[in-house]
Amino acid sequence: MEVKTSLLDNMIGVGDMVLLEPLSEDSFLENLKNRFDHSEIYTYIGSVVISMNPYRSLPIYTPDKVEEYRNRNFYELSPHIYALADEAYRSLRDQDKDQCILITGESGAGKTEASKLVMSYVAAVCGKGQEVNKVKEQLLQSNPVLEAFGNAKTVRNDNSSRFGKYMDIEFDFKGDPLGGVISNYLLEKSRVVKQPRGERNFHVFYQLLSGASDDTLKKLKLYRDFSKYNYLSLDSAVVNGLDDAANFRTVRNAMQIVGFMEDEVQSVLELVAAVLKLGNIEFKPESRCNGTDESRIKDKNDLKEMCELLGIEQSVLERAFSYRTVEAKMEKVSTTLNVAQAYYARDALAKNLYSRLFSWLVTRINESIKAQTKTRHKVMGVLDIYGFEIFEDGDNSFEQFIINYCNEKLQQIFIELTLREEQEEYVREGIEWTNIEYFNNAIICDLIENNQNGILAMLDEECLRPGTVTDETFLDKLNTVCAEHQHFESRLSKNSKFLNDHSLPHSCFRIQHYAGKVLYRVEGFVDKNNDLLYRDLSQAMYKANHSLIKQLFPEGNPAKVNLKRPPTAGFQFKASVGTLMRNLQTKNPNYIRCIKPNDKKASHIFTESLVRHQVRYLGLMENVRVRRAGYAFRQAYEPCLERYKMLCKRTWPHWRGPAREGVEVLMADLQVPAEEFSYGRSKIFIRNPRTLFFLEERRRQCLQDLATLIQKIYRGWKCRSQFLLLKQSQIVVAAWYRRYAQQKKYQRIKSATTVVQSYTRGWQARKLLRELKYQKRCEEAATTIAAYWHGTQVRREYRKYFRANAGKKIYDFTIQRILQKYFLGLKSTMPSMSPIDKNWPARPYLFLDGTHTELRRIFHLWRCKKYRSQFTEEKKAVYEEKLEASEIFKDKKALYPSSVSQPFKGDYLEISKNPKYQKLSSAMDEKVLLADVVNKINRANGKGTARIFLLTKKSVVLADQKTGQVKASVPLPDLTSVSVSTQSDGFFALKLKEGSASAVKGDFLLSSEHLIEIITKLHRIGATAADREQLNVDISDEFLVQFKQDKVCVKFIQGAPKNGNSVSCKRKNNRLLEVSVPSTA
Ligand SMILES: Nc1ncnc2c1ncn2[C@@H]1O[C@H](COP(=O)(O)OP(=O)(O)O)[C@@H](O)[C@H]1O
Ligand SMILES: [Mg+2]
Repeated sequence: MEVKTSLLDNMIGVGDMVLLEPLSEDSFLENLKNRFDHSEIYTYIGSVVISMNPYRSLPIYTPDKVEEYRNRNFYELSPHIYALADEAYRSLRDQDKDQCILITGESGAGKTEASKLVMSYVAAVCGKGQEVNKVKEQLLQSNPVLEAFGNAKTVRNDNSSRFGKYMDIEFDFKGDPLGGVISNYLLEKSRVVKQPRGERNFHVFYQLLSGASDDTLKKLKLYRDFSKYNYLSLDSAVVNGLDDAANFRTVRNAMQIVGFMEDEVQSVLELVAAVLKLGNIEFKPESRCNGTDESRIKDKNDLKEMCELLGIEQSVLERAFSYRTVEAKMEKVSTTLNVAQAYYARDALAKNLYSRLFSWLVTRINESIKAQTKTRHKVMGVLDIYGFEIFEDGDNSFEQFIINYCNEKLQQIFIELTLREEQEEYVREGIEWTNIEYFNNAIICDLIENNQNGILAMLDEECLRPGTVTDETFLDKLNTVCAEHQHFESRLSKNSKFLNDHSLPHSCFRIQHYAGKVLYRVEGFVDKNNDLLYRDLSQAMYKANHSLIKQLFPEGNPAKVNLKRPPTAGFQFKASVGTLMRNLQTKNPNYIRCIKPNDKKASHIFTESLVRHQVRYLGLMENVRVRRAGYAFRQAYEPCLERYKMLCKRTWPHWRGPAREGVEVLMADLQVPAEEFSYGRSKIFIRNPRTLFFLEERRRQCLQDLATLIQKIYRGWKCRSQFLLLKQSQIVVAAWYRRYAQQKKYQRIKSATTVVQSYTRGWQARKLLRELKYQKRCEEAATTIAAYWHGTQVRREYRKYFRANAGKKIYDFTIQRILQKYFLGLKSTMPSMSPIDKNWPARPYLFLDGTHTELRRIFHLWRCKKYRSQFTEEKKAVYEEKLEASEIFKDKKALYPSSVSQPFKGDYLEISKNPKYQKLSSAMDEKVLLADVVNKINRANGKGTARIFLLTKKSVVLADQKTGQVKASVPLPDLTSVSVSTQSDGFFALKLKEGSASAVKGDFLLSSEHLIEIITKLHRIGATAADREQLNVDISDEFLVQFKQDKVCVKFIQGAPKNGNSVSCKRKNNRLLEVSVPSTA
């Protein structure tokens, strides 16, 4: 079910002033302020919307908001301009009622914004489609164009509309927009030539100079410099937050969308430029000889440029600024203009040019946006007109008078329409009509507009009157005609109670408007009403070679000279206001009353005095009173019953029957006094807001109780369902737990059973095994016994057939088999024949250890023998010698190991072949076994001399190395022993038999590289000769030698390798010869 809301919900203050209790100006303001402080800028007075300007953007105009307010009843949601727009649009669409939206309020109160909001809302909710969207776009885009030309910055509003605007938007039967018609009222054209302090000329001038391209400016002969133009005020040329250049582009774009042709735009800009140029034309006085004052144009350049722009002949315009032609009857009289008149003429031209351009723009826009089809259409009019204007210092002039007159008229139709509507409703609802006391301002309207003696009529009369006419004569006239009027005051008015009131100056009159007293200064009334443009000027304009200018000044056409005066401004305005009022009266009015909260254009500031003033002159209190005069509040029965049905047991929760009866039951039950309400046909009318608030309060309490009840039931339900859920869960949990516990228990029992079972089975099996084993043993024992028994039997039977040594045979056979295998195996794993090969196959059986070793030895010996058997005799001898050397020296002398590898060559000197030793060889009677060069150590000093050492079977011979002369020959039998050291030296001493012939000089101490060979050979000779004792070989590091008579000890020491590796020998003293052998290590 859709939730029904109401304006009454969540109200800040009261949303509808009609419900204000008690109603007074203070409480009214208090309510406005309260709401304004809470950003509630809209408040209703019945169906009238009061709008406070927030001076800041509020988030209440979003597409969401549009949706929220769309198709909702007016009082359903909190007050909003959208509610009004929706109401108006729906009653237009659904009830076929033409609508008008009247927006009033003082300058800066937000009227224009409100009108735009209404238009944008309608545009958002009405039909869609290509054609419709184009129309919408054109309607919306007409705003920027009109604002550029008709709005200006004023002290009150940076974007103040300086004209009144009424726009009819036309819709078809479906509610789709078809087009529109705009009417404009009274552009404040005086602004073109002069602006009050702190204000600006119309936006378009600034926009053109800031935003146009250099090219455009050049074409228009303009400079991008405000200060160059007299008509532009400079002190506030730049407005904060207003981007003129960007706006210029917006305007151009909007003009294009609305449908302006490029050349039309150009013409419009040329006119704007011409106005600026016009302002720069200045005059200087020139006295003529006939005594009259004339004026001359100071600098003709601007005039020239302007004429070029507009295609006017310069001389024509120049003349028009100098002369004035008055045509009376058939006569033409030309008078010269003095400087003041020339300036007046110039400004009049500028004002006219601009205001006519503006009117042309409106007409041109209308041409574009007018509905294309001729079908009957519904209309929604939006009126954005300047509000009541009062300048405090009494500086109110003709414009204010006109404006205020317009507002007076609006107020009148407001009262009329409101009352009429109220009355109609009562009639419709069948409620008795009670007369309502209210102030009717028709009397003031009459004062102004009466055709006989109204102020406007007086003014016209005065303007048309021949003779001297001044503002003062006009005032005099007023004083005589209106003096009796109770809303008119002036110093001279006969009934004036203020005769002595000095606050009322002489040149002023005061009107007591419905919204307050306004003091008007008569100065300028006549002029402004006349709105005079000298015919010479309009004719000059008509002569222009510029189609737009020509169009704007049709009265300049000489063919259509009209001697009648053009209608006065006042007359025109009255006429257009009249038309407007008639138009509005045919429509269903919707009011938006704009209020400006402060003078500073600031958000959040609520200046009470200012608002109070506006509330007064807008007649808002009147408005509330009128609205409350009968019944303050009314509501259809259905929503009323829906809203309050809980206040009565019989209607709660459902009332079955007509809503009206339900409401009657309800009211009776609540004991509301009968005079407080009336039953209409479809609505209940409540006389006093108090009653409504009583109902609301009861409803609030009841809602609280209901809320408690709902809460109670809900809580009970919630707890119960929670409990049921818990219970359910508990059962589930318990079931699962039990299952789990039983499973566990079962598994325990099962495993215990298994254990018991396994033990039992084990025990049984073991028992069985034991029995089986026993059985088996018994069987085995029986078998064994049987076998033995059988064996014994068999043996006993067969003993005679067995050989006693069968076992040994088998053993031998086995051994043989093993040995056979061993030897056959050995055959295949035999090592090589090389005597030095140490390989030998591994032993297969332990018991073959001895055999194996022995076989190895035998094999080795055999292979050695094999090896030896290859030797020749000579080689054999050589090996024998080497063997002998080994026997003598091995492990005894350090020199030995190095000799093993050296073959024993014997004859190193090749003595038989070398011719050098021929003599020596021939001297030898025996074969030379060894010939070598040795060192003979000098017995006296130990120095060595090289000697040839020869060895034969019989002797040792020492000979001179060079000459080969024999130095000593020792027969071998004289040699007793040879001494050598244990070390690696080659020293050896040949010891001679004492007393022998050779021993005269003593023993020989020699040294040879082939010591081992020499000694071995010496030893061998001894060994082979049967007649001789074997030569002794002493190996010792200290031995004695016989040098002549002395026994000298030759001592071998390990010497430091001083002079390389050579062995040094030194005779130390008589008894000691020291041989130092370098250590071989
Ligand atoms: N509803 C609004 N929300 C925000 N700002 C507003 C609103 N109404 C008016 N204003 C501000 O106030 C200024 C004056 O409003 P405007 O409609 O031009 O006043 P008026 O037409 O009554 O002279 C606007 O330029 C805008 O800045
Ligand atoms: Mg405005």
